Amino acid sequence: MLVNLNDVLLPAKRQRYGVGLFNTVNLEMARGVLAAAERTGSPVIIGTAEVLLPYGPLEELSYFLLPMARKSKVKVVVHYDHGLTFEKCIEALKLGFSSVMYDCSMDSYEDNVKKVKELTYIAHSFGASVEGELGHVGGAEGNEQPDNLSFFYTDPEQAKDYTDRTGIDALAIAVGTVHGVYKFKPKLDFERIEAIRNIIDVPLVLHGGSGLSDKDFRKAIACGISKVNIFTDINIAASQAVKKAYEDGKDCMTDIIPYQVEKIAAVTENKIKLFKGSVIIEN
Ligand code: 13P
Repeated sequence: MLVNLNDVLLPAKRQRYGVGLFNTVNLEMARGVLAAAERTGSPVIIGTAEVLLPYGPLEELSYFLLPMARKSKVKVVVHYDHGLTFEKCIEALKLGFSSVMYDCSMDSYEDNVKKVKELTYIAHSFGASVEGELGHVGGAEGNEQPDNLSFFYTDPEQAKDYTDRTGIDALAIAVGTVHGVYKFKPKLDFERIEAIRNIIDVPLVLHGGSGLSDKDFRKAIACGISKVNIFTDINIAASQAVKKAYEDGKDCMTDIIPYQVEKIAAVTENKIKLFKGSVIIEN
C-alpha cells in the first residue's frame, strides 16, 4: 500500500530499527526492490533523485512506481529524493509521490529554512511527507577527505531550530558519510547522531549508505537513525548481474532482465534485514 514517511518512520523510530530508501531508475530496479520488501514483509521507501532523472524521467517512473506501491502487500513510500528545485518537487507531488526531499542544504541557513518551510506547507496539503537536509552530505567524487567533511556536519542545536521552524517530517544529517563509492574508510560521528536524536523529535536520515559496514549500520541505527539511503550498491549490483548473465552465455535482453531483478532483490533483501535487526514489524 502507498503510504508516506510518517507511516513507516515513526514506528521505526519508536522501535529503533531502520527503513531503507532504495533509489531506482527503471522497472527492473523497482521490481527487485519491491520483491525484497515483500519477501521480508517489511516497509520500504522507493524512489528516484533529481540527479538520476536523465536515466529515468520522473513522469515515466511515476507510471509504474505508484501503481506497484499501491498494489504491494507491504507499506511502500514513493519518495522524490534530493529534489533540487521547487518546480520538480511540486511536479513529484502532482504526479502522486507520497514524499519529497527538498535539498536546500547548500543554501544559507535562513534560505534553507524559508524554502523548505514553504514546500512542507504545500506537501502536507497533498498528504505527502517532507525530508529536509541540514549540514551537507557531499559526493565521493573529487578530493573530499574525511577531515574536510566535518566542516559540513549537522549542528544539534541548529537542527532543533530547523525542524521546529520548517515542520519537516524527517531530517537528513551530515555525520561523516558521502554519496557514491567511498575513496576512504568512512568514520561516522555516532555521538553527533545521538546528540541530534536527543534534541529533536523527527526521524533522522543517513544518506550515502552504500559501502558502510554492517557494524556501522547497526550502531548508527542504535544511536538514532531511522532511514538509510542506498543507491550505489544496487546500481553496481545491477551491472554485475549483466556481466554474470553474459558469463552464463545469455545475451538477450529477456535473459538479462531476470538476472538483474533477482540480484537487486538479493542485495536489497540483505540490507532490509540488516536495518530491521531482530525487530518484528507490523504491516
Ligand atoms: P549511495 O549511492 O552512496 O548509496 O547514497 C544514496 C543516497 O544517499 C541517496 O540519497
